Amino acid sequence: YRVVVTKPLVGDVWLETLLRADCRVDQCLSERILSRAELREAIGSHCDGVIGQLTEPWDDELMRVLKSAGGKVYSNVAVGYDNVDVAAATRHGLAVGNTPGVLTETTAEMAVALTFAAGRRIVEADAFMRAGKYKGWLPTMFLGKLFYGKTLGLIGAGRIGSVFALTMARGCHMDIVYYDQFQNEQLERKVRETGSLYQQLGERSISIRRADTVEEVLETADVVSLHTILDASTRHIINAERLRLMKKDAILVNCGRGPLIDERALVQHCRQHPDFRVGLDVFENEPQMAPGLASLPNVVVVPHIASATVWTRTGMCTLAAANVAAILRGEPVWNQPDVLPFVNAPSVDAMP
Ligand code: GLV
Ligand code: GLV
Repeated sequence: YRVVVTKPLVGDVWLETLLRADCRVDQCLSERILSRAELREAIGSHCDGVIGQLTEPWDDELMRVLKSAGGKVYSNVAVGYDNVDVAAATRHGLAVGNTPGVLTETTAEMAVALTFAAGRRIVEADAFMRAGKYKGWLPTMFLGKLFYGKTLGLIGAGRIGSVFALTMARGCHMDIVYYDQFQNEQLERKVRETGSLYQQLGERSISIRRADTVEEVLETADVVSLHTILDASTRHIINAERLRLMKKDAILVNCGRGPLIDERALVQHCRQHPDFRVGLDVFENEPQMAPGLASLPNVVVVPHIASATVWTRTGMCTLAAANVAAILRGEPVWNQPDVLPFVNAPSVDAMP
């Protein structure tokens, strides 16, 4: 088999044990984002599988190219797959893999970090210290936001959203209000049980409520974190009108996908409301930021690193390679009990 890997990856277990035995692995070691032409060239005339990245447009054209080169599988090193035309892949008979599960806690922890960084003005205060501006303690300096007992809002209560919400709610005794097309009974049960434990301990209880609308979450929450997938129905789910519904001193966190937020509208809103705070891991037009975003003191930005821990990135790369190996050899795919690492589940028959 010939497998193309479009980027340097983390860990090498995936390469040695999963692929090298019977695959020729052609890996691009450049950190540059590959163009469509370069991807076409990398696939060449014979390619059985590709391990690719979320920065690459795996649309109908590239799927067609992969198929004509004898391809059987495209494996995304990400849980999100808005860069992949799954319908096109399925039409061409190509399996599409992703990397759910291994990044759940890591990504949720980044959302927690951004929530605190934004709410307690960590980055602004750090810059202040380094600039030598600290002349002595004042009661008035860098007033931020207390989370204890406040309301946490989720847009999307799947794997990552749930872990984020439980971490914040259990840690800071916050109530949860969430919007999701599905009721998350497991999350609701965990919150109820934690709530009664807190009651027994004489501590502030916590609660959870599923909202009927996005608006309801935005109006009531002190922190709103986005954990929904990006598709046509969620693009700009946070726009100017919806930003206006939020509390003027709310915190908005996005570790999902940039286009969930109308970034230009967000810049406007942050200019008008200096107490509104934002933590962003993802951007509408990566690697660019909307004009003005970078100079706003009430915004904390990091470069799409929510899943960036050694453990998780090794896990993602391993899972991405395992997905390719499983399809090529017709072996059962690796998966946790409730997590299927195939977006279009092509080999359901082969699964254990
Ligand atoms: C990262 O953004 C991912 O989807 O895994
Ligand atoms: C602050 O440092 C305090 O002692 O309250």
